[in-house]
Amino acid sequence: MIGGENAGYAQPSMAIAAHPELGDALRHARARTLALVAALPAAELERVQHPLMSPLDWDLGHIAAYEDLWIVHRHGGGELLRPDLADLYDAFETPRAVRGEIPILRGQDVLDYIAAVRARGLEVLDQVGPGDGTLFELVVRHEAQHTETMRQTLFLAGLPGGRPAGPVPRGRGAPSRGDGWIEVPGGPSEMGAGAAGFAFDNERPRHRVELPAFRIARRPVTNATWLRFCEGGGYERREWWSDEGWAWKEEYDITHPEGWTAGGPIRADRPVMHVSWFEADAFARSQGARLPTEAEWEKASTWTREPLEQIGEVWEWTASHFTGYPGFAAHPYREYSEVFFGDRYRVLRGWSWATERRVRSTTFRNWDLPERRQIFAGVRLAKDVT
Ligand code: AVJ
Ligand code: FE
Repeated sequence: MIGGENAGYAQPSMAIAAHPELGDALRHARARTLALVAALPAAELERVQHPLMSPLDWDLGHIAAYEDLWIVHRHGGGELLRPDLADLYDAFETPRAVRGEIPILRGQDVLDYIAAVRARGLEVLDQVGPGDGTLFELVVRHEAQHTETMRQTLFLAGLPGGRPAGPVPRGRGAPSRGDGWIEVPGGPSEMGAGAAGFAFDNERPRHRVELPAFRIARRPVTNATWLRFCEGGGYERREWWSDEGWAWKEEYDITHPEGWTAGGPIRADRPVMHVSWFEADAFARSQGARLPTEAEWEKASTWTREPLEQIGEVWEWTASHFTGYPGFAAHPYREYSEVFFGDRYRVLRGWSWATERRVRSTTFRNWDLPERRQIFAGVRLAKDVT
């Protein structure tokens, strides 16, 4: 564990170069990754567990190839350890759908590769230094993101690590003040990450937005509430669904959140998880509400008069499409964000129980397609003030 309970949360002004613990951060990220796979038989790591997900062995090799590229090669100026593997582990050269059929490293070979790259990375840190820290931070956070992706795979496969050990651990937020709505007054607010410290390119530049007053739910939607939605014909009432959402639901015969029947008892009071954006959108309409925009979410999450509760138990779908902020500049990893901008991907805000502390931030923007349900994602409603 690095630092205290909230290490890594909301410290944008800290100069990255002042982080003395980049080596520790790399080791900590690796321990979390390896803990997920340590007890699994090799066959489970090799298999394509779900058509949407990579074999877990691919994630491992990709984490290392990324580290070799950004730290050893780009930052340190060294040659890649295995140039022959670069394309196999490039997310764009080798999309998820084909990752089960290519000659990636397996078993002990991938473990040896990730360890060898790590030794090279730590040597660069020692010999060259961290620079301004950006590339090290990028690599640490990239690994943490893939660790969560691997948990999604474990969830879909029904393997250990894909669900919290008990109920979803409590997230951020004041002791409960009960259900209901928080009214956030209209007016200007600032959104995005400031110039100092590490942030992903899509979080910058920080800029001003002007929002009308809105209401946002104090808490995310619970399983109990979602069950009432199911029992009240939530998946059958055409009027609550968008055309696209209805077509998706019909095609895949969706009648409840992913994992509900396979996962044992549903914890009624804990937030619903593994719903798609389409379901979230339909649910909101059934309640006479809507999803918050990401600007509303960010404003509400920093609104100190009445805090949102349970941030960080589940990712929260927003109404917003994933696009660049005004003045967006891709940096340093060009393919991180820009290639996903447009009207297909929806933004999720917050973080989940599976998210490493270091990457938790109220300016972080996650994104996925509206039909995806592997994410540890739930719903917080919003409403206009009329
Ligand atoms: C930010 C989670 C959407 O997994 O597609 C990992 C993170 N980018 N490797 C993804 C990412 C490249 C990204 N998300
Ligand atoms: Fe990646």
